[in-house]
Amino acid sequence: MSSNVTQTARRRHLAGRFMRPAIFTSLLVGLLGLKATVLAQQPSSQYPIYTQDHFTATMKTVGQNFGGLNQAVTAGDFENAKSRAIRAREQLATTVTFWRKNKKDDAVAMLRTATQRFDELDNVLSKSPVDKDAATAAVKQIGAACQACHAVYREQDPTTKAYKFKSNALQ
Ligand code: HEC
Repeated sequence: MSSNVTQTARRRHLAGRFMRPAIFTSLLVGLLGLKATVLAQQPSSQYPIYTQDHFTATMKTVGQNFGGLNQAVTAGDFENAKSRAIRAREQLATTVTFWRKNKKDDAVAMLRTATQRFDELDNVLSKSPVDKDAATAAVKQIGAACQACHAVYREQDPTTKAYKFKSNALQ
């Protein structure tokens, strides 16, 4: 009995010795992975490569969420509206990196107006009950902020209908 106990204890001890480094390694790998993700999500801190393609891809998802936001407000589904608005705001905010890199202060300012209007909408959607007319008006205000920047920096190809940066806009 007593030798059984010692054996079990020894096995545990051995297991502990061999297991611990494995756990430690996986923790370390996990932490490094986390750090890489955090760094990847903070592009503005060190001007990494944020290309026009990244910008376009982001705008597309902003557009999808903004479309969903419009529909949700019209349908009176304010919970859905709120989550769409949060996503659109977050995605839109990341594009500041692009404008900073291209030294476009006017675009940075227009972007800030747009994100502020998302905050105003968030206030409206956080009231209970939500005032649908106020929410509709707030969404319109956001749309106007999107348009203000598009008028200066965006153009549409007349044949393909694809959107792109206005030529010369980034010089
Ligand atoms: C500070 C400037 C700026 C703001 C603010 C802005 N955009 Fe854009 N957006 C652009 C530019 C420039 C393009 C053209 C680049 C492209 O599409 O390749 C664009 C393109 C788009 C596109 C077309 C993407 C594609 O290529 O198919 C959509 C959709 C879009 N924006 C939605 C929005 C919405 C919705 C908002 C507001 C919530 C918004 N944008 C706010 C600058 C802006």
